[in-house]
Amino acid sequence: MSWDRKGLTDLCDWSKEDYQVFLDMASRYKKSLDSPADRKRDILKGRVLVNLFFEPSTRTRVSFEMAEKLLGADVIDWSSSGSSLSKGETLRDTAWTLKAMGIDGLVVRHGRSGFPLFLKKLLPGVAIINGGDGARSHPTQALLDLLSATEAVGSLESMPVVIAGDVAHSRVARSVARAFSTMGAKIIFAGPRSLMPADVESLGGTYSPDGLSAAKDAGIVYLLRIQKERQQQEEFFPSQDEYHRYFGASLESVPAGTFVMHPGPINRGVEISSAVADGSDSLILDQVRSGVATRMAILDLCLGGVA
Ligand code: CP
Repeated sequence: MSWDRKGLTDLCDWSKEDYQVFLDMASRYKKSLDSPADRKRDILKGRVLVNLFFEPSTRTRVSFEMAEKLLGADVIDWSSSGSSLSKGETLRDTAWTLKAMGIDGLVVRHGRSGFPLFLKKLLPGVAIINGGDGARSHPTQALLDLLSATEAVGSLESMPVVIAGDVAHSRVARSVARAFSTMGAKIIFAGPRSLMPADVESLGGTYSPDGLSAAKDAGIVYLLRIQKERQQQEEFFPSQDEYHRYFGASLESVPAGTFVMHPGPINRGVEISSAVADGSDSLILDQVRSGVATRMAILDLCLGGVA
């Protein structure tokens, strides 16, 4: 295996073979999580990683920190509140300051699309790993989803996958559509037209305007969170009840036996009912577990040398 990427800002240049290398490694790490004796490694011993989160997070932040510690790295958890940004320091000076201290990698989440690309250019020699930027990209989310999906269904080749909801504001939708379609899935976007980008089909799928009707032929239905924090003042649908009736996953709208995914956090009763979220076809908690293994694999591939 050869792997020459020293960071992960997006999945734009990933081939099917790259995804396969990742899946092989991540599935090994996922199995190791079951064994307290086996899961702790020293692959990143002596490496210093900083987690730089400018937006709220539970899954991404905690699973990166867990992955870093399981691989033996020294971890610094940074947050903008309490930092010298509040004294007027620029982001550029903050980044140069962290680099001058000798850090090896940065995991970054920021509300501005492209922020990890800015850091990559600014800090040569530091591995930049994207934990979500604006509505642009959330690559490790798509990778963990790919791991859970392929473990559940085997191959995605020719499988219809419905991605439903707030596509317009979703970095997850963009990254998942890219990863799943590269692996052969047929992506169908569903949701209110008001929450679709004008060029939705450029994201790698077709648009179904008819509620969640495409779910009846799908192998996987992937629900997106309504991104209230990115919707500014505008109202995109009449009410949450109405949204759920037409676009939410429920026992009526998603046939039994169809796998259901959601990146979390979920809005119960809006994009997904509790009966579906907690039901036997839900992969939601498996996605969370895949998150730890995925981040271990990405850190190993980008910072740990060749496995
Ligand atoms: N899916 C996801 O990114 O969740 P968090 O915001 O909790 O990290």
